Amino acid sequence: MLRIVLAVVLVVTIKGEGCCPYDAWEGFEGLLTGTVQGGQSHLTQGAFTLHLNNTKRMVASEVDLVVDGVVIRLKSIQDYNTGTEYDIMDGKCTKKPIGQWKPQCIPDDAKVVQNTYIGAGSEKVAVKTYLYTDNGLQVYATVTASGCIPVMAAISGTTAQGVPTVSVVEFSGITSGIKDPSVFSIPAICNSLDIPHQHIPIFKGLRRSFFH
Ligand SMILES: *[C@@H]1O[C@H](CO)[C@@H](O)[C@H](O)[C@H]1NC(C)=O
Repeated sequence: MLRIVLAVVLVVTIKGEGCCPYDAWEGFEGLLTGTVQGGQSHLTQGAFTLHLNNTKRMVASEVDLVVDGVVIRLKSIQDYNTGTEYDIMDGKCTKKPIGQWKPQCIPDDAKVVQNTYIGAGSEKVAVKTYLYTDNGLQVYATVTASGCIPVMAAISGTTAQGVPTVSVVEFSGITSGIKDPSVFSIPAICNSLDIPHQHIPIFKGLRRSFFH
C-alpha cells in the first residue's frame, strides 16, 4: 500500500517540460488577429511594448492597435494583485476586472513538437516549439532553447465567448529587468473617481499575450 502511494507521489512530482523566461522583462510584441463575430470577420494588428514583472504580478504595455482600419492607442496596466486592468486612452482612464494571475511560462504539460533553430551558420539560435491549449485555444509557441525567451506563437480556436480566432504573435528586442519601474504606477486619473466600466468594443477578448 505504502509503495503504491509513493509511486503516485513520484509520478505527480516529475517536472514537466515547461519553462519560464526572465522573472521581469521588457520587449516588443507584434500581433495579427483575425476573428469572426456576428458573421463578420475582423482583423486586428497590434504593436505592444511590454513590461512584465512576475513577482510583482503586473503587466504594463503601450499599445498601438489597428482594428478593422481604426487606430486605437492606449496604455494599459494590469494589476493582478487587485484583479484590475487600467486602460488609459485620450487622457481618460477606464477600469475593468481581469482574471487570475498565471505565470508567464510555457506550461509543464506542453508538448515539444520541434527542436530547431532560426537564423543560419554562426548566427543560428536554437529554439523549441511547444504545443499546448490555453482556455480552449491551441497554442504553438516557439521560444529560445536556452532561456525560454519568446520568439513567436500561433494561437487558434474558439474563445470562451464563442469567437473563432486565429492569431500570429512575434517578439523582438527582449531585455531582462525593468528600466523604468514607474511604468507600473497607476496614474492619478485612474484613482480620482470610480469610473464605470466601459469596455472598448472589439478590443476586449482579442488581445492575447503570448503565454495567456
Ligand atoms: C519586480 O517586483 C518585485 C516586487 O515588487 C521587486 O522586488 C523587483 O525588484 C522587481 N523587478 C524588477 C526587475 O523591477
